[in-house]
Amino acid sequence: MESKQIHIPDNAEYRELKLFIEANSSTPGPLIQVLHRAQKIFGYLPMEVQHFVARELGVPHSQVYGVVTFYNFFRTEPIGDHIVNICLGTACHVKGASEILKALEKELGIRVGGTTKDRFYTLSTARCFGACGLAPVMMVDDEVYGRLNPQKTIQILKDLRTAQTVK
Ligand code: FES
Repeated sequence: MESKQIHIPDNAEYRELKLFIEANSSTPGPLIQVLHRAQKIFGYLPMEVQHFVARELGVPHSQVYGVVTFYNFFRTEPIGDHIVNICLGTACHVKGASEILKALEKELGIRVGGTTKDRFYTLSTARCFGACGLAPVMMVDDEVYGRLNPQKTIQILKDLRTAQTVK
């Protein structure tokens, strides 16, 4: 999958990324660093941005794509307003975190890494928040919720959405 001709808009975000690439292209292995910056600028890494990075660094798009899809901290979809992180660490796992995750995927209609159509929630997973005594645990943005079950978790997310929409 080589870089194909795609239209790259000339806007402030791309200019900022181009400057960053120019400043860092001589450092060894700049790809991950550049992708981090790109994600910071754009919020995620759509194909268009990946092609731009490939072109500017002079590497095949397949290499950029491989790195983006290998590391789960890179996102190829825009993220929602709120990140829902389900802990899949050992303590949470033995207390039913997988059932919670399954229920949430069904309720939100997305898989892990996905974002709801209204861009309200992005579903993610983590390995221990250091709150194992509260297992199973989820974090929504910076807020920790513990001693969950599937019904309680779904209700929390419904309540948060309602609270936001009536603001
Ligand atoms: S294993 Fe879930 S908070 Fe530690």
